[in-house]
Amino acid sequence: MRWMCNNNTSNSWFRTGHSNRHWFARSLALSRYTKSAKKTLGNMVLDLAKKTYFLITGASRGIGKCMAIEVAKKLKSGSVVVLVARDLVALEKTKTEIESKRSDVTVLVYSVDLSKAKAENFQELLRNSLKQANANADTFERAFIIHNAGTVGDVSKSAKDVTDTAIWLDYYHTNVFSTIALNGEFFEEFSKIPKLVINITSLCGIEPFASMSYYCSGKAAREMYFKVLAVEEKDTETQVLNYAPGPIDTDMTVLIQRETINKDLQETFKSQRESKTMLTAEQTTAKFIKILEEVEFTSGAHIDFFD
Ligand SMILES: NC(=O)c1ccc[n+]([C@@H]2O[C@H](COP(=O)([O-])OP(=O)(O)OC[C@H]3O[C@@H](n4cnc5c(N)ncnc54)[C@H](OP(=O)(O)O)[C@@H]3O)[C@@H](O)[C@H]2O)c1
Repeated sequence: MRWMCNNNTSNSWFRTGHSNRHWFARSLALSRYTKSAKKTLGNMVLDLAKKTYFLITGASRGIGKCMAIEVAKKLKSGSVVVLVARDLVALEKTKTEIESKRSDVTVLVYSVDLSKAKAENFQELLRNSLKQANANADTFERAFIIHNAGTVGDVSKSAKDVTDTAIWLDYYHTNVFSTIALNGEFFEEFSKIPKLVINITSLCGIEPFASMSYYCSGKAAREMYFKVLAVEEKDTETQVLNYAPGPIDTDMTVLIQRETINKDLQETFKSQRESKTMLTAEQTTAKFIKILEEVEFTSGAHIDFFD
């Protein structure tokens, strides 16, 4: 398969001497989770060609931009696409790209700073988008949300040196609290129709990486929230997936490569970038859509690009 061609080392951002131990623990934990989940949760294969209300955060660049464009291509005529990030000019570019391929869907953009946003701001955004689209929540066949926006935090410090609680609060507000608040308001607004909820997660949410205490702990917290949601919603038409996109050539990995004190990680990203073996947003988006459309998985599962 095309997207497997760069998987020449391991199912990890980088390979080190100790990664086999992590590998084993990870596989064991995942197989335990999958086995227990399968007893109670229904499997899913999705038809994306439905009349959909589709919201994605972090749609201004990187993985989110690509996912917004590719998912929009799949939706049924009359769908509404809502793009969220801070950079309005970049969001407008994503919108233009979608509209150049799909004149039959409504695309709306919202500049939101997730480090500050609260539940009431998300409620207002959702209601405003329905009003702008002249639509009623119950008339959609599906409400689909991708919680993609994310930041990596300060990777220039080790875990013992990150002592400023104000910085932690800001990081968690951006990456965890806003996501949870938006998700809750989304459920409230679309309470009567089937929902598809994607959390863009990372291998870092289930495996520790030196220099990434903000990112690893934030991803772990966020992923566990969505696993709890999946269990709570097991008897409804809500489907939840934690998708780990693999190492992708975006601003995020450029920043990590430049600023991390983890020399192994820095070297790996440098060599992947120079040899052009780092995955692209297009590759991971193609795999993501294939998983949704073709793979049976249990709601709440963690699926990695390399799985
Ligand atoms: N790249 C990778 O290798 C990789 C690997 C595993 C998981 N992921 C995950 O994939 C997701 C996307 O990553 P990426 O690589 O595409 O990152 P990116 O290129 O840095 O893009 C991050 C996106 O998040 C938005 N964002 C950041 N801070 C925000 C804020 N305060 N308020 C609103 N929006 C904000 C940005 O938009 P604005 O700047 O316009 O606000 C941008 O659209 C993240 O959750 C990341 O953790 C990435």
